[in-house]
Amino acid sequence: MKDKDLKRLLDQNREWAAAITASDPEFFQNLAKQQSPKYLWIGCADSRVPATQLVGMVPGEMFVHRNVANVVVHTDFNCLSVMQYAVDVLKVEHIIVCGHHGCGGVKAAMENSQLGLIDNWLRHVQDVIRDHEPELSHINDPERQLDRLCELNVIEQVLNVARTTIVQSAWQRGQELVVHGWIYGLEDGLLRDLGVSIDCAEGLEAAYQGVTEGSGQNRER
Ligand code: CO
Repeated sequence: MKDKDLKRLLDQNREWAAAITASDPEFFQNLAKQQSPKYLWIGCADSRVPATQLVGMVPGEMFVHRNVANVVVHTDFNCLSVMQYAVDVLKVEHIIVCGHHGCGGVKAAMENSQLGLIDNWLRHVQDVIRDHEPELSHINDPERQLDRLCELNVIEQVLNVARTTIVQSAWQRGQELVVHGWIYGLEDGLLRDLGVSIDCAEGLEAAYQGVTEGSGQNRER
């Protein structure tokens, strides 16, 4: 049974490669020589959020890093190495941090679930909860509260990306690079721009102020 499941994957791969070759006979040969993606995608590992597929891109167009709950941690050499290579070598022009509503990782952090090793990883999302407690506590519907936390988590990770030495150095030497925050709706398959794009070191300060003031306003309500 298991072998049959895997055979399906290999069969489908052959069909996929054949279909691409039929429309562009040189596609794979050209791609094998080099990649020059303009975008780096940092997203959740969730199987329902297939990065390249949901923006209708073909192989070669997007560099991708995915982990549970799309978290950017300053000591995570995996994520940092992906970013460094993407920015310094591939010279991507956009870094998109994309979260999604109904994220299981974010939900586990919110509910303080005991799932094992991953609890340590999700501590980072709990930091986001702590920082935005005033706003979150004003949302009564649990589903809306989770979705808002998914969005706030993206915004915080955008700031984390912008604060890395990798992005800071790129801006310092005048390299064009914009960091964006998007959220994906599992229910309708649509992406939404959270309006927190940052394209320079000064923009980072403004974005940070916006995020903290946003929480402050909610606190007063
Ligand atoms: Co997720």
